[in-house]
Amino acid sequence: MSQTNLESYWLPFTPNRYFKRHPKMVVSAKGAYYQTDDGRQLFDCLSGMWCCPLGHSHPKVVEAFKRQVDTLDYAPAFQVGNDTTFKLAERIADIAPAGLDRVFFVNSGSESVDTALKIALSYHRVRGEGGRFRMIGRERAYHGVGFGGISVGGMVANRKGFATLMLPGVDHLPHTWNPAQMAFSQGQPDWGLHLADDLERLVALHDASTIAAVIVEPVQGSTGVLVPPLGYLQRLREICTKHGILLIFDEVITGFGRLGSNFAAQRFGVVPDLITFAKGVTNGTIPLGGVIARREVYETLMAATAPEHVPELFHGYTYSGHSMATAIGLATVDALAEEGLTQRAAELEPVLQNAVHSLKGEAGVLDIRNFGLMAAVDVESIAGKPGLRAFRVFEHGFANAHLFRVTGDTIAMGPPFISTPAELEQMIDGLRAAIRASFKD
Ligand SMILES: Cc1ncc(COP(=O)(O)O)c(C=O)c1O
Repeated sequence: MSQTNLESYWLPFTPNRYFKRHPKMVVSAKGAYYQTDDGRQLFDCLSGMWCCPLGHSHPKVVEAFKRQVDTLDYAPAFQVGNDTTFKLAERIADIAPAGLDRVFFVNSGSESVDTALKIALSYHRVRGEGGRFRMIGRERAYHGVGFGGISVGGMVANRKGFATLMLPGVDHLPHTWNPAQMAFSQGQPDWGLHLADDLERLVALHDASTIAAVIVEPVQGSTGVLVPPLGYLQRLREICTKHGILLIFDEVITGFGRLGSNFAAQRFGVVPDLITFAKGVTNGTIPLGGVIARREVYETLMAATAPEHVPELFHGYTYSGHSMATAIGLATVDALAEEGLTQRAAELEPVLQNAVHSLKGEAGVLDIRNFGLMAAVDVESIAGKPGLRAFRVFEHGFANAHLFRVTGDTIAMGPPFISTPAELEQMIDGLRAAIRASFKD
């Protein structure tokens, strides 16, 4: 076991007291596997945290990292540019839905969300519609942990302690998960389209002239892979267009191939006005995120009347468009295309679907959902102790050969695109064993 002193480090989104009594340490990672400090291999069931689609230590990424650190490790983000960062913006514009081709870089998913909200506000303000200040999020959404993100987010534990500083005027659409209507759906449920009409109710309540944007994850990831009902995203698009409201897709998880397409927007055939991204863009190797804007949104801000030496948007970070991160972003986007890995994710989708739905009928399994290379299984809670059952599943997985991700009493999976069909089947066998064991604890 590790000799590391565990006292000083405060782990995020982790029960620290428990962790420090039961530490789980990994020492290296290669391909789809981690190595633990006691010499075991763990299959990476969630591609890191949805962010390592190529698997770990991909040779193109390693090479790009070494080359870039020798060439240009850092250059100021404001007032000067570097070739690598412009190239990645161009590559992202090439693979984004038609019409979205202006890219603002940040360092994380949380920053990408706050940036998108600021762009939406600024867009309306320069068009003379500064009264549009409201943001509409959705129940059970995760948009990171900035004050913007938790305000439009819909996870009560992340919100309740910080409510006093949240954005004013935010409202929420209902989430779309209804087990009575859609339990064990494979892919998109065919019930629930009407839930998008709730946006009309919010427009009637607040008036469109006060609403800046609607933000949704095309597939809600962090609260357990909630797949949008058929037609739902199309309906949201129609209502936003009708009322001049910007539609933001938070593609921090779904961007860069997770649904077998470059972005969820293309998979669903729905084009938003802004896309937020992070995670997969650098294969998780270095933090990077961003916002892809519809050209007209960018042009509107550029056409504002301020003198030319004044920035059009008072926003940005020391590490926006960091040359190391964008070099690795280029290597990642190249590897996804050249090695056919986005296509491979599409091919693995039915394998994952068949495997995960084989858990139907297992004692304690309440629902199973899947879309693209994303899947989730809900397990029966232990009375009075929500989250403990799935936590036990996680412990059993870790003690054997699988690093699962749990949220509440849900186990979420999003394996690397380099996985083999056999590995996906073994992952589900591992989950079956861990679920059974969790009911014997
Ligand atoms: C949809 C979505 N948005 C935003 C975030 C926040 O990203 P980060 O943790 O990089 O700030 C996440 C993280 O999981 C996410 O899934």
